[in-house]
Amino acid sequence: MIEYRNLRVALLGAGSVGAQVVAQLQKHGEELANRAGAGIELIGVAVRDIDAPRTAEIPRELLTTDAEGLIVGADIVVELIGGLEPARTLILEALNSGADVITANKALIATHGPELFAAAEQVGAQLFYEAAVAGAIPIIRPLRDSLAGDQVHRILGIVNGTTNYILDRMDLEGQSLEEALAEATALGYAEADPTADIEAYDAAQKAAILASLAFHTSVPIEAVYREGITAITGEQVEAARRAGYVIKLLAICERMIDADGDAGVSARVYPALVPRAHPLAAVHGAKNAVFVEAEAAGDLMFYGAGAGGVETASAVLGDLVSAARRHVIGGPGIAESTHGDLPILPIESVTTRYQISLLVNDQPGVLAAVATVFNEHGVSVETVHQTVSSLGAEGESATATLVIGTHEASEASLADTVDALASNDTVRAVTSVLRVEGSE
Ligand code: HSE
Repeated sequence: MIEYRNLRVALLGAGSVGAQVVAQLQKHGEELANRAGAGIELIGVAVRDIDAPRTAEIPRELLTTDAEGLIVGADIVVELIGGLEPARTLILEALNSGADVITANKALIATHGPELFAAAEQVGAQLFYEAAVAGAIPIIRPLRDSLAGDQVHRILGIVNGTTNYILDRMDLEGQSLEEALAEATALGYAEADPTADIEAYDAAQKAAILASLAFHTSVPIEAVYREGITAITGEQVEAARRAGYVIKLLAICERMIDADGDAGVSARVYPALVPRAHPLAAVHGAKNAVFVEAEAAGDLMFYGAGAGGVETASAVLGDLVSAARRHVIGGPGIAESTHGDLPILPIESVTTRYQISLLVNDQPGVLAAVATVFNEHGVSVETVHQTVSSLGAEGESATATLVIGTHEASEASLADTVDALASNDTVRAVTSVLRVEGSE
C-alpha cells in the first residue's frame, strides 16, 4: 500500500447527505486516497444531537457537538449543516484558518457568496460547491472549467425536483396541485413546509449561482425574478398539453442585449410552457436537468438526481478529492471569476413570448377589439386559437375562449397588454398567462 500524507477532514452536519458522505468514505476511502494522492482522515463529525437517528451509522467516537473546536487543525472542512447561520460563521472561520471548504449550501452561496469567495482568496484557500446546485449533477465544474473557453448564451434549468414532480403528476396523471404536493410530501421530496420549493425560492438561489458562474458576474439573489407554481391549475396543464407544450418550472439565466445595445444578464424563475419536443420536456418525476446553450459547443444537457443523500454525497466527495489534490500540489486556490461584471437586467427589459387565454363574449367585433389592444402595445400576435366555451343561456351571449400566442416582446409591453386586456369591455376574464420558453 502506498504511504500518503494524511489530510485532516472535518465534517459539519450528519443529515441525509452528511451521513452518506461518511458511509461512502468508509466504503471507498482507500480508492479516494489513491485518486487524490493523499490519505483522507475524517477527524470528526459535528452534530447538534449525538444521539439523533441517522441514515448511516457513524462511529460514536467521531461525533462531537463542538463544531468550532473540530475546525481547528483541519485541512479540509465539509459544511453540510445548511441554512445561513451558523454555517456562514463556521465557513469563514475555516477559510480564515487556511482550510479549503466544501459546501452543499445553495442558500449560503447565493446570499453570501462574494463574502465567502473573498475570504477564501485572501488566504489562498478554495471554496468548492458542486453539490449546491442540482445535487449529483456535475454542473458547477462544467460551467466554471469545461466551458471556460466558450460563451454561454442561455441556461434553462429544471433545478427543483419537488416542483418538477408536482407538475409532472399534474401532466401525466391529471392530479390537482394539492394532490401532487401531498404525494411529493409523502415520498419525502417536499419538506414539511414546502414554501421554498413551490414558491421557487430554492430554484431562485440556484439560478443566482448558475448565472454568476456562466456570465462571470456576481448575480445577487435579490436580482433574481421569481414566480412559484402555486397559481398553476389543472386547466392550464391540460390546455398546455393540447397545444403541444408541458409546463415546467424553469430557472433561466440569459445573456441579453438591452434596448441601448448594451450586454446584460437576466436571471429569473417561473413556470413556463416548454414545447414537448424540447429535451427538458422529457425530464420526469423529481429529476433535474440543466440545458446550456453555448456559442461554440451548441446545446448541452446535464441530467440526473437533483437531491438525495447518497446522490448528493457523490458531488461532495468529488469536491473532496479535488480539494485533496489541490493540497498535494500546493499553491493558492482558484478564485471565483467575476470579471464580466455585467449589469443585471430587471425583468421588465427581458424579451420573451406569452401565451394568453381569454374568456370573451362570442360576438362580432371581439377579435378586432382584442387585436387592437395587442397592436396598441406594440406586441405582435403569432397564433390565435378559438373554441366556443358555452352557448349561453337565454338572454346571455355565448362565450368563447381565445388562446393567443405572441411573438417576442418586452416583458413590460406584454404585462401592459395583459392589464389592458383585463380591463377591456369585450374580455370577460384573462384566464391564463404563461411565458413560452425553449422554442426556436
Ligand atoms: N428541495 C430541493 C428539490 C432539493 O426539491 O429539488 C434541494 O435543493
